Amino acid sequence: MSKEVNLEEQFQARIDAGERIEPKDWMPEKYRKTHIRQISQHAHSEIVGMLPEGNWITRAPSLRRKVGLLAKVQDEAGHGLYLYSAAETLGISRDELEVQLLTGKAKYSSIFNYPTLSWADIGAIGWLVDGAAIINQVMLTRTSYGPYARAMVRICKEESFHQRQGYEIMLGLAKGTPEQKEMAQDALNRFWWPSLMMFGPRDHESPNTAQSVRWKIKRKTNDELRQQFIDITAPQADYLGLTIPDPDLKWNEERGHYDFGEINWDEFWQVVKGNGPCNRERIEARTKAREDGAWVREAALQYAAKKATRNQSKAV
Ligand SMILES: [Fe+2]
Ligand SMILES: [Fe+2]
Repeated sequence: MSKEVNLEEQFQARIDAGERIEPKDWMPEKYRKTHIRQISQHAHSEIVGMLPEGNWITRAPSLRRKVGLLAKVQDEAGHGLYLYSAAETLGISRDELEVQLLTGKAKYSSIFNYPTLSWADIGAIGWLVDGAAIINQVMLTRTSYGPYARAMVRICKEESFHQRQGYEIMLGLAKGTPEQKEMAQDALNRFWWPSLMMFGPRDHESPNTAQSVRWKIKRKTNDELRQQFIDITAPQADYLGLTIPDPDLKWNEERGHYDFGEINWDEFWQVVKGNGPCNRERIEARTKAREDGAWVREAALQYAAKKATRNQSKAV
Protein backbone atom coordinates (compact mmCIF):
# COMPACT_ATOMS: atom_id res chain seq x y z
CA MET A 1 0.00 0.00 0.00
CA SER A 2 1.44 3.39 -0.93
CA LYS A 3 2.07 5.96 1.77
CA GLU A 4 -0.49 8.34 0.21
CA VAL A 5 -3.29 5.74 0.33
CA ASN A 6 -2.47 5.04 3.95
CA LEU A 7 -2.61 8.73 4.83
CA GLU A 8 -5.93 9.10 3.06
CA GLU A 9 -7.38 6.19 4.98
CA GLN A 10 -6.20 7.60 8.28
CA PHE A 11 -7.60 10.97 7.32
CA GLN A 12 -11.02 9.52 6.50
CA ALA A 13 -10.95 7.52 9.75
CA ARG A 14 -10.40 10.72 11.73
CA ILE A 15 -13.35 12.37 10.01
CA ASP A 16 -15.54 9.31 10.56
CA ALA A 17 -14.63 9.43 14.25
CA GLY A 18 -15.84 13.02 14.39
CA GLU A 19 -12.39 14.56 14.85
CA ARG A 20 -11.66 18.05 13.61
CA ILE A 21 -9.02 18.64 10.95
CA GLU A 22 -6.69 21.52 11.82
CA PRO A 23 -4.52 23.67 9.49
CA LYS A 24 -1.23 21.88 10.13
CA ASP A 25 -2.71 18.37 9.79
CA TRP A 26 -2.14 16.32 6.67
CA MET A 27 -5.08 16.55 4.26
CA PRO A 28 -5.75 15.37 0.70
CA GLU A 29 -5.13 18.10 -1.87
CA LYS A 30 -8.74 17.87 -3.00
CA TYR A 31 -9.99 18.48 0.55
CA ARG A 32 -7.81 21.60 0.75
CA LYS A 33 -8.97 22.88 -2.64
CA THR A 34 -12.64 22.18 -1.96
CA HIS A 35 -12.39 24.08 1.30
CA ILE A 36 -10.61 27.03 -0.25
CA ARG A 37 -13.34 27.18 -2.87
CA GLN A 38 -16.21 26.84 -0.43
CA ILE A 39 -14.90 29.11 2.35
CA SER A 40 -13.82 31.86 -0.05
CA GLN A 41 -17.12 31.66 -1.92
CA HIS A 42 -18.81 32.10 1.42
CA ALA A 43 -16.53 35.03 2.38
CA HIS A 44 -17.16 36.75 -0.96
CA SER A 45 -20.91 36.32 -0.46
CA GLU A 46 -20.74 38.09 2.89
CA ILE A 47 -18.78 41.02 1.43
CA VAL A 48 -20.78 41.37 -1.79
CA GLY A 49 -23.95 40.89 0.25
CA MET A 50 -23.20 44.16 2.03
CA LEU A 51 -23.84 46.08 -1.22
CA PRO A 52 -27.59 45.63 -1.82
CA GLU A 53 -28.32 46.39 1.84
CA GLY A 54 -25.78 49.18 2.23
CA ASN A 55 -27.78 50.83 -0.54
CA TRP A 56 -30.59 51.48 1.99
CA ILE A 57 -28.65 52.73 5.03
CA THR A 58 -29.14 56.40 4.15
CA ARG A 59 -32.82 55.81 3.37
CA ALA A 60 -33.89 53.68 6.34
CA PRO A 61 -37.31 54.95 7.47
CA SER A 62 -36.40 55.63 11.12
CA LEU A 63 -33.40 55.99 13.41
CA ARG A 64 -34.15 52.57 14.94
CA ARG A 65 -34.21 50.90 11.52
CA LYS A 66 -31.03 52.68 10.50
CA VAL A 67 -29.13 51.54 13.60
CA GLY A 68 -30.31 47.97 13.06
CA LEU A 69 -29.37 47.91 9.39
CA LEU A 70 -25.97 49.49 10.07
CA ALA A 71 -25.23 46.81 12.65
CA LYS A 72 -26.30 44.08 10.27
CA VAL A 73 -24.14 45.32 7.41
CA GLN A 74 -21.17 45.60 9.79
CA ASP A 75 -21.81 42.04 10.98
CA GLU A 76 -21.59 40.85 7.38
CA ALA A 77 -18.21 42.55 6.99
CA GLY A 78 -17.07 40.73 10.14
CA HIS A 79 -18.30 37.41 8.71
CA GLY A 80 -16.32 38.04 5.55
CA LEU A 81 -13.18 38.74 7.56
CA TYR A 82 -13.40 35.61 9.75
CA LEU A 83 -13.98 33.54 6.65
CA TYR A 84 -11.09 35.04 4.68
CA SER A 85 -8.88 34.29 7.70
CA ALA A 86 -10.16 30.69 7.79
CA ALA A 87 -9.40 30.33 4.06
CA GLU A 88 -5.89 31.73 4.60
CA THR A 89 -5.10 28.86 7.00
CA LEU A 90 -5.26 26.60 3.92
CA GLY A 91 -2.31 28.35 2.28
CA ILE A 92 -3.86 31.02 0.08
CA SER A 93 -3.45 34.78 0.58
CA ARG A 94 -6.18 37.36 1.02
CA ASP A 95 -4.82 39.11 -2.04
CA GLU A 96 -5.20 36.02 -4.23
CA LEU A 97 -8.73 35.50 -2.94
CA GLU A 98 -9.70 39.05 -3.77
CA VAL A 99 -8.26 38.80 -7.27
CA GLN A 100 -10.24 35.59 -7.82
CA LEU A 101 -13.43 37.44 -6.91
CA LEU A 102 -12.73 40.46 -9.09
CA THR A 103 -11.73 38.40 -12.13
CA GLY A 104 -14.80 36.16 -11.86
CA LYS A 105 -12.73 33.05 -11.10
CA ALA A 106 -14.46 32.72 -7.71
CA LYS A 107 -18.21 32.90 -7.30
CA TYR A 108 -20.45 34.35 -4.62
CA SER A 109 -24.09 33.65 -3.83
CA SER A 110 -26.16 34.62 -6.86
CA ILE A 111 -28.90 36.15 -4.66
CA PHE A 112 -26.78 39.29 -4.28
CA ASN A 113 -27.03 39.98 -7.98
CA TYR A 114 -30.64 41.07 -7.54
CA PRO A 115 -31.40 44.75 -6.87
CA THR A 116 -32.99 46.19 -3.71
CA LEU A 117 -35.79 48.34 -5.11
CA SER A 118 -37.73 49.27 -1.97
CA TRP A 119 -37.32 49.34 1.80
CA ALA A 120 -39.38 46.14 2.01
CA ASP A 121 -36.52 44.36 0.21
CA ILE A 122 -34.41 44.87 3.33
CA GLY A 123 -37.08 43.03 5.31
CA ALA A 124 -37.37 40.27 2.69
CA ILE A 125 -33.59 39.80 2.55
CA GLY A 126 -33.28 39.48 6.32
CA TRP A 127 -36.22 37.12 6.56
CA LEU A 128 -35.56 34.95 3.50
CA VAL A 129 -31.90 35.33 2.54
CA ASP A 130 -30.46 35.30 6.05
CA GLY A 131 -33.06 32.64 6.90
CA ALA A 132 -31.81 30.43 4.06
CA ALA A 133 -28.21 31.18 5.04
CA ILE A 134 -28.87 29.96 8.61
CA ILE A 135 -30.22 26.63 7.36
CA ASN A 136 -27.09 26.15 5.24
CA GLN A 137 -24.76 27.34 7.97
CA VAL A 138 -26.01 25.65 11.12
CA MET A 139 -24.75 22.33 9.75
CA LEU A 140 -21.39 23.99 9.05
CA THR A 141 -20.79 24.58 12.78
CA ARG A 142 -20.08 20.82 12.85
CA THR A 143 -18.10 20.68 9.62
CA SER A 144 -14.82 18.75 9.70
CA TYR A 145 -12.43 21.66 9.14
CA GLY A 146 -11.79 23.31 12.53
CA PRO A 147 -11.26 26.98 11.58
CA TYR A 148 -14.37 26.97 9.37
CA ALA A 149 -16.54 25.27 11.99
CA ARG A 150 -15.45 27.71 14.72
CA ALA A 151 -16.07 30.77 12.53
CA MET A 152 -19.56 29.46 11.81
CA VAL A 153 -20.58 29.34 15.48
CA ARG A 154 -20.42 33.09 15.89
CA ILE A 155 -21.69 33.79 12.39
CA CYS A 156 -24.83 31.72 13.02
CA LYS A 157 -25.67 33.65 16.17
CA GLU A 158 -25.49 36.90 14.24
CA GLU A 159 -27.43 35.52 11.26
CA SER A 160 -30.22 34.62 13.61
CA PHE A 161 -30.44 38.27 14.71
CA HIS A 162 -30.53 39.31 11.03
CA GLN A 163 -33.36 36.92 10.28
CA ARG A 164 -35.46 38.20 13.17
CA GLN A 165 -34.77 41.79 12.27
CA GLY A 166 -35.88 41.13 8.68
CA TYR A 167 -39.02 39.37 9.79
CA GLU A 168 -39.87 42.24 12.12
CA ILE A 169 -39.53 44.71 9.23
CA MET A 170 -41.88 42.53 7.16
CA LEU A 171 -44.33 42.28 10.04
CA GLY A 172 -44.42 46.07 10.42
CA LEU A 173 -45.14 46.51 6.72
CA ALA A 174 -47.59 43.61 6.40
CA LYS A 175 -49.67 44.94 9.29
CA GLY A 176 -49.33 48.56 8.09
CA THR A 177 -51.21 50.55 5.45
CA PRO A 178 -52.42 48.80 2.26
CA GLU A 179 -49.52 50.43 0.37
CA GLN A 180 -47.01 49.08 2.89
CA LYS A 181 -48.52 45.61 2.70
CA GLU A 182 -48.32 45.76 -1.08
CA MET A 183 -44.65 46.71 -0.83
CA ALA A 184 -44.00 43.71 1.43
CA GLN A 185 -45.85 41.39 -0.98
CA ASP A 186 -43.88 42.74 -3.93
CA ALA A 187 -40.58 42.12 -2.11
CA LEU A 188 -41.66 38.55 -1.29
CA ASN A 189 -42.65 38.02 -4.94
CA ARG A 190 -39.22 39.06 -6.14
CA PHE A 191 -37.07 37.35 -3.48
CA TRP A 192 -38.89 34.04 -3.00
CA TRP A 193 -37.57 32.08 -5.98
CA PRO A 194 -34.00 33.45 -5.85
CA SER A 195 -33.97 32.45 -2.14
CA LEU A 196 -34.83 28.85 -3.07
CA MET A 197 -32.00 28.93 -5.60
CA MET A 198 -29.56 29.74 -2.77
CA PHE A 199 -29.47 26.04 -1.88
CA GLY A 200 -27.87 25.28 -5.23
CA PRO A 201 -28.79 22.87 -8.04
CA ARG A 202 -30.94 19.78 -7.55
CA ASP A 203 -29.07 16.88 -5.94
CA HIS A 204 -28.76 14.90 -9.17
CA GLU A 205 -27.07 17.92 -10.78
CA SER A 206 -24.72 18.59 -7.91
CA PRO A 207 -21.59 16.51 -8.57
CA ASN A 208 -19.69 17.54 -5.43
CA THR A 209 -22.38 16.59 -2.92
CA ALA A 210 -21.40 12.94 -2.29
CA GLN A 211 -17.73 13.74 -1.62
CA SER A 212 -18.71 16.73 0.55
CA VAL A 213 -20.99 14.52 2.66
CA ARG A 214 -18.21 11.94 3.09
CA TRP A 215 -15.83 14.65 4.31
CA LYS A 216 -18.55 16.11 6.53
CA ILE A 217 -18.31 19.45 4.75
CA LYS A 218 -21.99 18.99 4.13
CA ARG A 219 -24.35 17.00 6.30
CA LYS A 220 -27.50 17.42 4.24
CA THR A 221 -28.07 17.68 0.50
CA ASN A 222 -29.23 20.77 -1.38
CA ASP A 223 -32.73 19.38 -1.84
CA GLU A 224 -33.08 18.40 1.82
CA LEU A 225 -32.04 21.87 2.95
CA ARG A 226 -34.32 23.59 0.44
CA GLN A 227 -37.28 21.52 1.68
CA GLN A 228 -36.43 22.38 5.28
CA PHE A 229 -36.38 26.10 4.41
CA ILE A 230 -39.77 25.92 2.67
CA ASP A 231 -41.33 24.01 5.58
CA ILE A 232 -40.16 26.65 8.05
CA THR A 233 -40.93 29.68 5.91
CA ALA A 234 -44.40 28.90 4.51
CA PRO A 235 -46.16 29.22 7.92
CA GLN A 236 -44.23 32.45 8.57
CA ALA A 237 -45.66 33.92 5.36
CA ASP A 238 -49.15 32.86 6.49
CA TYR A 239 -48.65 34.68 9.78
CA LEU A 240 -47.68 37.83 7.87
CA GLY A 241 -50.82 37.47 5.73
CA LEU A 242 -48.65 37.43 2.59
CA THR A 243 -48.85 35.00 -0.32
CA ILE A 244 -45.83 33.01 -1.47
CA PRO A 245 -45.73 33.39 -5.29
CA ASP A 246 -46.05 29.66 -6.02
CA PRO A 247 -49.49 28.28 -6.97
CA ASP A 248 -48.18 24.73 -6.41
CA LEU A 249 -47.14 25.34 -2.80
CA LYS A 250 -49.29 23.04 -0.70
CA TRP A 251 -48.94 21.05 2.52
CA ASN A 252 -48.60 17.35 1.76
CA GLU A 253 -49.95 15.39 4.72
CA GLU A 254 -48.48 12.13 3.51
CA ARG A 255 -44.94 13.41 3.05
CA GLY A 256 -45.11 15.68 6.08
CA HIS A 257 -43.65 18.46 3.91
CA TYR A 258 -44.80 21.23 1.61
CA ASP A 259 -44.91 20.43 -2.09
CA PHE A 260 -43.69 23.25 -4.28
CA GLY A 261 -43.43 24.30 -7.91
CA GLU A 262 -40.59 24.04 -10.39
CA ILE A 263 -37.66 26.42 -9.95
CA ASN A 264 -36.55 28.34 -13.03
CA TRP A 265 -33.09 26.80 -13.38
CA ASP A 266 -32.36 28.75 -16.57
CA GLU A 267 -32.55 31.93 -14.55
CA PHE A 268 -30.29 30.41 -11.89
CA TRP A 269 -27.57 29.45 -14.39
CA GLN A 270 -27.83 32.79 -16.18
CA VAL A 271 -27.17 34.64 -12.92
CA VAL A 272 -24.37 32.25 -11.94
CA LYS A 273 -22.74 32.85 -15.34
CA GLY A 274 -22.68 36.60 -14.72
CA ASN A 275 -25.83 37.69 -16.52
CA GLY A 276 -27.97 38.61 -13.52
CA PRO A 277 -29.41 42.12 -13.11
CA CYS A 278 -26.53 43.43 -10.94
CA ASN A 279 -23.49 41.17 -11.51
CA ARG A 280 -21.50 43.87 -13.27
CA GLU A 281 -22.42 46.56 -10.79
CA ARG A 282 -21.36 44.41 -7.81
CA ILE A 283 -17.93 43.60 -9.24
CA GLU A 284 -17.41 47.25 -10.21
CA ALA A 285 -18.19 48.31 -6.63
CA ARG A 286 -15.71 45.78 -5.20
CA THR A 287 -13.04 46.76 -7.74
CA LYS A 288 -13.44 50.42 -6.83
CA ALA A 289 -13.19 49.55 -3.12
CA ARG A 290 -9.93 47.69 -3.79
CA GLU A 291 -8.50 50.60 -5.78
CA ASP A 292 -9.62 53.19 -3.23
CA GLY A 293 -8.03 51.16 -0.43
CA ALA A 294 -4.68 50.65 -2.19
CA TRP A 295 -3.01 53.56 -0.38
CA VAL A 296 -3.98 52.09 3.01
CA ARG A 297 -2.37 48.75 2.16
CA GLU A 298 0.76 50.48 0.84
CA ALA A 299 1.03 52.66 3.93
CA ALA A 300 0.61 49.65 6.23
CA LEU A 301 3.34 47.74 4.38
CA GLN A 302 5.71 50.73 4.51
CA TYR A 303 5.06 51.14 8.21
CA ALA A 304 5.65 47.45 8.89
CA ALA A 305 8.91 47.55 6.92
CA LYS A 306 10.09 50.66 8.77
CA LYS A 307 9.27 49.10 12.11
CA ALA A 308 11.14 45.92 11.21
CA THR A 309 14.26 47.92 10.23
CA ARG A 310 14.07 49.93 13.46
CA ASN A 311 13.79 46.77 15.55
CA GLN A 312 16.72 45.24 13.68
CA SER A 313 18.98 48.24 14.32
CA LYS A 314 17.98 48.15 18.01
CA ALA A 315 18.93 44.49 18.20
CA VAL A 316 22.43 45.24 16.80
FE1 LIG B 1 -23.44 36.91 7.21
FE1 LIG C 1 -26.62 37.99 7.69
